[in-house]
Amino acid sequence: MALNLKSLLFVSLFIALVAAPIAEATVPIRLIQIQGSVFCNLNGTMLVNGIASPPFSNALVQLRCGPANLIVSFAITDRDGVFSNLAVFPRNLSLTSLLSTCNLLVNTPLSRCNSTLPSVGRLRSPIRFIGNVTLGLNNILNVTIVGPVGFTLVA
Ligand SMILES: *[C@@H]1O[C@H](CO)[C@@H](O)[C@H](O)[C@H]1NC(C)=O
Ligand SMILES: *[C@@H]1O[C@H](CO)[C@@H](O)[C@H](O)[C@H]1NC(C)=O
Ligand SMILES: *[C@@H]1O[C@H](CO)[C@@H](O)[C@H](O)[C@H]1NC(C)=O
Ligand SMILES: *[C@@H]1O[C@H](CO)[C@@H](O)[C@H](O)[C@H]1NC(C)=O
Ligand SMILES: *[C@@H]1O[C@H](CO)[C@@H](O)[C@H](O)[C@H]1NC(C)=O
Repeated sequence: MALNLKSLLFVSLFIALVAAPIAEATVPIRLIQIQGSVFCNLNGTMLVNGIASPPFSNALVQLRCGPANLIVSFAITDRDGVFSNLAVFPRNLSLTSLLSTCNLLVNTPLSRCNSTLPSVGRLRSPIRFIGNVTLGLNNILNVTIVGPVGFTLVA
C-alpha cells in the first residue's frame, strides 16, 4: 500500500508541531488514505467486456464529503490511472459517517482520455473500508485505508 509520502510527511510534521503538545498519547485526528485507480471508459473499470481499458491518467480525483460536498482532499492519477489521497478528519467524526457521506469525484471529463467519450458528466463513486495500518515510530499514526466502490457517470 503506497502511501502518499509527501502528504504523510506533511501530516507527520503537523502532528509533531501542532497535535503533539495538545495530547501526547492521543492525536485528535483521523487519517484516511484513499486509493484506487480509474480507467478510460464510462464506468472507470479496468475491463470492458473482458477487454482491458487504457488507464485514465492525469485525472483530478477529489474526495468530497458532507451535505455541502466539500472538497476534503484531491489527487492526480498517475500514468497507470492510480490515485492516492490522504485526508485528515477530526477524530470524533466516525468512520461510518465518513463512509456514508464522502464520495470520490473524478473532476476531469472522460473526453480528456478518449475524445469519443462524453465531455459532460463526471465519474463518481462512494467509498468503502479496505483496512487499517499503523505507521511511524511507536505506531503513532493509525491510518484507515479506503477505496472506491465503483464509478458511474453522473451529471
Ligand atoms: C457500465 O456498467 C453498466 C451497468 O453495469 C453496463 O451496462 C455497461 O455495459 C458498462 N459500460 C462499460 C463501458 O463498461
Ligand atoms: C467534534 O468536536 C468538535 C470540537 O470539539 C465539535 O465542534 C464537533 O461538534 C464534534 N463533532 C461531532 C460529530 O461530535
Ligand atoms: C474510446 O472509446 C470508444 C467508445 O466510446 C471505444 O470504442 C474505443 O475503443 C476507445 N479507444 C481507446 C483507445 O480506448
Ligand atoms: C479501523 O479503524 C477505525 C478507526 O480507528 C475503526 O473505527 C475500525 O473499527 C477499524 N476497523 C478494523 C476492522 O480494525
Ligand atoms: C492505533 O491503533 C492501535 C490498535 O490498532 C491502538 O492500540 C493505538 O492506541 C492507536 N493509536 C492511536 C494514536 O490512536
